[in-house]
Amino acid sequence: MIRNERMKVTGQREIARNIYELILEGELADEVGEPGRFVHVRAGETMDPLLRRPISIADYGDGRLTLIYRADGYGTRVISEKERHGQADVLGPLGNGFPVEAAVPGTKALLVGGGVGVPPLYGLSRRLKEAGVEPVHVLGFQSDDVVFYEEEFSRLGETHIATVDGSRGKKGFVTDVLESLIHEFSVYYSCGPLPMLKAVADGMTGTEGYLSFEERMGCGIGACFACVCHTDSNDRGYVKVCSDGPVFKAGVVTI
Ligand SMILES: Cc1cc2nc3c(=O)[nH]c(=O)nc-3n(C[C@H](O)[C@H](O)[C@H](O)COP(=O)(O)OP(=O)(O)OC[C@H]3O[C@@H](n4cnc5c(N)ncnc54)[C@H](O)[C@@H]3O)c2cc1C
Ligand code: FES
Repeated sequence: MIRNERMKVTGQREIARNIYELILEGELADEVGEPGRFVHVRAGETMDPLLRRPISIADYGDGRLTLIYRADGYGTRVISEKERHGQADVLGPLGNGFPVEAAVPGTKALLVGGGVGVPPLYGLSRRLKEAGVEPVHVLGFQSDDVVFYEEEFSRLGETHIATVDGSRGKKGFVTDVLESLIHEFSVYYSCGPLPMLKAVADGMTGTEGYLSFEERMGCGIGACFACVCHTDSNDRGYVKVCSDGPVFKAGVVTI
């Protein structure tokens, strides 16, 4: 069920440059069901900005929702000003998440994230681990000062960091790390910018994969067509990222 709830803000902290971790408490947190879904957050208390901001659910459970977001534009900067003991107007949980059951227990699963595509992989990694799957993380960032959750991911499994400027981990892109991995994976999951998703999918041909797309959105619930992407996999020729996704099996969305 999609809920519109005023959730309690119980934590807000800057965990890297302009990257915030927001903890919310409310009933919605126990209705997420699967990792990779998202919420639509009203930025302020007025109608300005009018549109909600879509943010992935980084983790959930025990009445708590964790969101990790970059405060870059107007709306997310307003969200970053929410203080502990305040409230946030949240619509969700929305969309379809990552299928944990696609990974075979006892095997390794590859999780590849770029920038603000990294957060939903954390909740996914926790559920994979609980299901007896070994997660291997490859996380890409622009530079050292915007890297987040390296320790948290490392506690769950092997974790590789790539930065474009080489200030942390391997210099270059996530694909530069992928080339050096020698593991066999039963499945891969990825979230990040489109060129990264394309490169990851191309490099992992032959392995089952799931990609999460971060399209611009209006309504977030399938009513406005703001988020449509082309597909050859249905008669309509398009999918709505908000309600058919944001996670799709690799190959479904044309990239
Ligand atoms: C399913 C989904 C999950 C996401 N998860 C995260 C997350 O976990 N952490 C995070 O930091 N970001 C995430 N994003 C991206 C985030 O929604 C945008 O960065 C944010 O909406 C930008 O708003 P703004 O107020 O900073 O910018 P503004 O420039 O004020 O935004 C103007 C409008 O453009 C939209 N917009 C701008 N950039 C993006 C973008 N990259 N993707 C989608 N809409 C955009 C805004 O929603 C708003 O409607 C996600 C996007 C989607 C679709
Ligand atoms: S955002 Fe309105 S249909 Fe997807």
